[in-house]
Amino acid sequence: MDKIVSLCRRRGFVFPSSEIYGGLGSTYDYGHYGVLLRDNIRQLWLRAMVRERDDIVALDSAVILNPRVWEASGHLAEFNDPLVDCRTCKLRFRADQLGQSQCGRKPSKHPGETPECDLTEPRQFNLMFQTHVGALQDESSVAYLRPETAQGIFINFKNVLQLARRKPPFGIAQIGKAFRNEITPGNFVFRVREFELMEMEYFVPPDEAAEWHRYWIEERMGWYRKYGLRESMLRAREHGEEERSHYSSATSDLEYRYPIGWQELEGVANRGDFDLTQHTKHSGTKLEYVGSDGERYTPWVIEPAVSMERIFVALLADAYHEEEVAERQRTVLQLHPAMSPVKAAVLPLINKNEDMVARARRLYEELRGEWVVEYDDSGQIGRRYRRQDEIGTPFAFTIDEQTLEDETVTVRHRDSLAQERLPISGVKAWLGDALRRDWRSPKGD
Ligand code: GAP
Repeated sequence: MDKIVSLCRRRGFVFPSSEIYGGLGSTYDYGHYGVLLRDNIRQLWLRAMVRERDDIVALDSAVILNPRVWEASGHLAEFNDPLVDCRTCKLRFRADQLGQSQCGRKPSKHPGETPECDLTEPRQFNLMFQTHVGALQDESSVAYLRPETAQGIFINFKNVLQLARRKPPFGIAQIGKAFRNEITPGNFVFRVREFELMEMEYFVPPDEAAEWHRYWIEERMGWYRKYGLRESMLRAREHGEEERSHYSSATSDLEYRYPIGWQELEGVANRGDFDLTQHTKHSGTKLEYVGSDGERYTPWVIEPAVSMERIFVALLADAYHEEEVAERQRTVLQLHPAMSPVKAAVLPLINKNEDMVARARRLYEELRGEWVVEYDDSGQIGRRYRRQDEIGTPFAFTIDEQTLEDETVTVRHRDSLAQERLPISGVKAWLGDALRRDWRSPKGD
């Protein structure tokens, strides 16, 4: 994890937030390559969830909702972590994660391990961030930043059902920021207080719920495999009853073997009719499906939910690779080309050669209309290749003396380091084909 954090910092993927003011615990800002990688994740998720399907529509609901939403959803009463305080070191810990927490008294004892630790009984601590809406700051103006985007979907169920003329099974997908006042954030962006959730609520006839639950576990596993995560690093794990959220009838975590061990990447929950029933009760608006033949029922909900941050860390962890090539250390991000922030680099071999530079600029301008490409003419060519390797650019096109003679360029492949020559006029079509090809991690399965 340290190596990934250091690469992200060095190459401007991620910066600790508010750094010039000493930072703000576990809050991060994303730099250029981080933004591009996140955009690819977002677009590929939307493509699989919305663009390539007939049965799922998109939604973008508000972050701050009527606080009664959180009463109905159970988050005000149930979205808690059990906390203990230590009267000796004055720190606060999650009661269910004492083994992974660090005691305030160094060196690195876990809280409660020695008799000096004086822990209180666990108390419930609500994870929602509170704010006030409007000029008054009293009980009547309290509101919450959403801890999940799902509730914005449930309260719009009727709108979508009517206006999009949908019939179960159908889904509503949403990407947006969510906020949780996590007690023990950490491990880089793996657990943060502000994250981008990607959730899809799939409404189904109740007797089909178990079948659709299995379907979505498989579908989402397939998505991770398609975008390059190795099979051996992925598994599905079913929650025990005690582990499930208050709304869940069954949940399976899709876990990735992060540098910190097997951890939840995505959750696929069967939420039953919990949410629609609760909002019907609390709002007085009936949230049910009524067929043209008079058939009526409250659909059950299957929900695949994942944060951008968990995918981001999994992709980087899977892609990070160090090797020695010609007695030099090479660090490379072996990302699926569809995920790579930059798809190709265009490099004139000699930056003082005006013809080479002009040729390279022309190729760069042709390609950038279609993809994110980089032009780089600074420093030795080997160093330029290594810069591209570190940000995961799958292909580099080099314009050299031969280009000026025969109108061909060298293409260098990031993963195999193979080089071949192509006519410069065919580069755009070649790159289009190369980016469409299936890709497997050079590390194997
Ligand atoms: N609507 C369902 C829901 O919110 P969850 O398991 O609490 O379920 C869904 O969260 C996903 O959000 C998780 O599978 C994980 O990918 C991500 N996630 C949860 N807490 C997070 C945090 N503090 N930082 C980053 N990602 C988080």
